[in-house]
Amino acid sequence: MRSVSRISDARAVLAEQRRGGCSIGLVPTMGNIHVGHLALLERCRAECDFSVVTIFVNPLQFGPKEDYTDYPRTLDKDRDVLSVHGCDLLLHPTVKEVYGEHPEQSTRVHVPDLSERWCGASRPGHFDGVATVVTRLFNFVQPETAYLGLKDYQQFLLIRKLVTDLGMNTRVAGVETMRESDGLAMSSRNAYLSADERRAAPALYRELRGIADEIRGGERDYPGAASRCRERLSAAGFNLEYLDICDAQTLRPASIADSELVILAAAFLGGTRLIDNLRLAIDPAALA
Ligand code: PAF
Repeated sequence: MRSVSRISDARAVLAEQRRGGCSIGLVPTMGNIHVGHLALLERCRAECDFSVVTIFVNPLQFGPKEDYTDYPRTLDKDRDVLSVHGCDLLLHPTVKEVYGEHPEQSTRVHVPDLSERWCGASRPGHFDGVATVVTRLFNFVQPETAYLGLKDYQQFLLIRKLVTDLGMNTRVAGVETMRESDGLAMSSRNAYLSADERRAAPALYRELRGIADEIRGGERDYPGAASRCRERLSAAGFNLEYLDICDAQTLRPASIADSELVILAAAFLGGTRLIDNLRLAIDPAALA
């Protein structure tokens, strides 16, 4: 595995691969590589000839009171793990490499509507930071396919939209969320949970599964079902940011005419913010 911090070095390696006819896949990350990232890499390796992982803790997507400074940075360990798991090129650029001398004056990318909802409402500017860095990373690497985790479902939809809208020649593939054996979605931020919080955390996904079962069983009062679920999670110690049943493409609150749904949730346990989602398809004919 090659490991480079300069974009020009990455471009030289990639140009050589392209000359050899190789297809290029990209797994963009902020590092602290865990099994969830490795699932993205595995899919990338299965589908592409040459696998690139980027590690960049993107300052633009953190709010002023968020954990940019404390975000786990484990480059040496990540490099070893990625190398063992067959990554071909690791690009770990500095902020200056990505944004130039004056990051505050650099061009931003904004995806309307999707950026404003849910995580976007509670983290103003977050998705502009994501859209901006992903546009840059995709331009640096120009992958045929980029692999993103479906745990960050809103981010996945947003990136798919920006790629379409900006006419990028990249396919965005969503990879199923990896979970601990008790159902907790894998995330770098799980490391922040205390032992008690870690024991409580799987209730989030359990509740999402519970609502999905209710919907499959015929429940169509979506606001009512979501509200009961929020109450149960609050009673279990979660501080809910949002939990709602939405149309899986627009992320607008679902109506009974929608057949592809996603239950989206974000909640704090102590100081740790957890997000999760569950997608389900219902047969509109069942409504008739
Ligand atoms: O999901 C992440 O790790 C980040 O938001 C991403 C897509 C790498 C952009 O910084």
